[in-house]
Amino acid sequence: MELDQLGNWQRTKKCGELRAEDIGNEHILMGWINTRRDHGGVIFCDLRDYTGISQIVFATQHDATAFMKADGLRSEYVTAIRGVIAKRSPETINPKMVTGEVELHVKEVKVLNTCNLLPFQISDDQQEVGEKTRLKFRALDLRRPTMQHILMLRSKAAHVIRSFFVNNGFFEIETPVLTKSTPEGARDFLVPSRVNAGRFFALPQSPQLFKQMLMISGYDKYFQIVKCFRDEDLRGNRQPEFTQIDIELSFTSQEEILKLMEVMIAELFRETVNYRVNLPIPQMTYAEAINTYGSDAPDLRFELPLIDLSEIVSSCSFKVFSNAIESGGIVKAIMIPGGASFSRKELDDLTEFAKIYRAKGLAYVKLKEDGWQSPIAKFFTQDEIEKINVKTGAKVGDLILFGADQTKIVHDALGNLRREIAQKTGLIDNDEFNFVWVTDFPLFEFDEDEKRYTSSHHPFTMPNQEDLEKWEFDDPSRINSIAFDLVLNGVELGGGSIRIHRKDIQERVFKLLNLSEEESRAKFGFFMDALEQGAPPHGGLAFGFDRIMMFLSNTKSIRDVIAFPKTQQAACLLTDAPSEVDKEQLRELNISIRKAKT
Ligand code: AMO
Ligand code: AMP
Repeated sequence: MELDQLGNWQRTKKCGELRAEDIGNEHILMGWINTRRDHGGVIFCDLRDYTGISQIVFATQHDATAFMKADGLRSEYVTAIRGVIAKRSPETINPKMVTGEVELHVKEVKVLNTCNLLPFQISDDQQEVGEKTRLKFRALDLRRPTMQHILMLRSKAAHVIRSFFVNNGFFEIETPVLTKSTPEGARDFLVPSRVNAGRFFALPQSPQLFKQMLMISGYDKYFQIVKCFRDEDLRGNRQPEFTQIDIELSFTSQEEILKLMEVMIAELFRETVNYRVNLPIPQMTYAEAINTYGSDAPDLRFELPLIDLSEIVSSCSFKVFSNAIESGGIVKAIMIPGGASFSRKELDDLTEFAKIYRAKGLAYVKLKEDGWQSPIAKFFTQDEIEKINVKTGAKVGDLILFGADQTKIVHDALGNLRREIAQKTGLIDNDEFNFVWVTDFPLFEFDEDEKRYTSSHHPFTMPNQEDLEKWEFDDPSRINSIAFDLVLNGVELGGGSIRIHRKDIQERVFKLLNLSEEESRAKFGFFMDALEQGAPPHGGLAFGFDRIMMFLSNTKSIRDVIAFPKTQQAACLLTDAPSEVDKEQLRELNISIRKAKT
């Protein structure tokens, strides 16, 4: 087909903008042919752009040349259309479309480009299109209205966030991408330096040290919407390259940070999806979250708390329970109202689910009219049974599930189980956004594999001063920190802390992390020096922008809120990155590739 030039044509309306008020006016629209229906003497097309769809009508009585040309139009041809807006005949009015009352009677059509047969249709019914195909042909995938809606919402969200920070006296300052490793718990992506042979930059896992430097430089309040890079396990809502809303303030307190940030979150949810977040967002300590919900990111849209039965069952004759306690573990339970109706198969499935989290089994009790119905009932005295019924609040028709093991395993297994059960039994209101701040994180976690302490957040987190004095040499795991996370529906949206601004404290923390003086000097010397050059008290946090967007756009996959994401194998299917490079490039970088072991 012969193509036309756009020439001096200018678009006067977008496809989603035609209204009855415009009837009789001539307009020029530009966009993609969405559909084409040939009714003999009349050809109807839907023309689509990012604003929506309009019906355009080719007929000899509107223009004979245009009508002839319409014969050759196909899906996704790019066209410019000049025509007159007219009222649709009553039987063709479509009340479901904002443009459904009118249509454009075509006077002239320019075909600006054709389109080959596509691997899939540009429509929102994508169920049958696999994600690999969508990612490979991303330009087409992103042309679909749902994806356009998500990315435009993302743009709006970024705008609301920027306005909020600028209005509150924050400065947006860029930090480098070619830098030195900052520990956030993942592996670094490395970039070889050509000029400094044999040396490598690390891509930032976060701008943590730079934003702290900016506070030391006196910028007072900083924010940045910034790319971060982490070479880690790409489970569920993680990407190797993702975006943070990164924030830091000087002369501040946890209280001030949380208060300001929840106003930002509320503004964001109101402006983008018209959702009113109830302020203040409730707070819960880490200890309470773990003990009651088995997780530091509890989903509070439903209750199902973990109930501690350790004391009641410590000397019962069911060995699985009493042994667990004797060896320093715990026994906890979840009571599921109405759960006595669960089938054997459902209970078996729940047991298998608990085993994913290293539980060795899942004892259960159904409360019937005539008492406990359970394989383990015989091990319990009437007194123990009554105490368990009272403590769990179980009534006839209810179910009690038990976990007995080391504390961490019980919390992990039951914490995940409560969510699984809530989902299965329809306890979750999918329209609710349930926020909670989790505070008072322990400074360290004990890494069982490496047999050493690691930072729960990162090594720059301020310890609770009293805890540090008390437990530094006796039991560092008992030192809490001034650190907090924002959790939404059981997902960690962001986290931060008050930072260490004194070198002596930073040194003590490095020491507890088993970092020698030489190591800390080599990794963070520049930073340690700056701490002695007039570092003000400061603190901040970072939100995962992609995760926030998953909630705002109600998507299940993080890849749906990122224009050009990586697969779970950390590859870009569109550009085929990562790829091999020329020998010459490698030679310049002084790098040789070892043959992969076969
Ligand atoms: P943290 O490591 O908790 O803190 O990261 C902050 C938030 O970033 C998001 N996030 C991710 N999103 C997508 N893919 C990933 N791979 C990924 N990793 C993290 C999460 C997380 O809550 N410098 C500190 C913040 C601070 O202390 O100010 C930091 O990076 O939503
Ligand atoms: P058993 O004594 O192995 O036959 O187990 C009896 C019941 O206790 C079964 O329902 C098991 O699933 C359950 N069970 C076994 N180990 C544990 C455990 N560590 N915590 C909770 N329940 C368990």
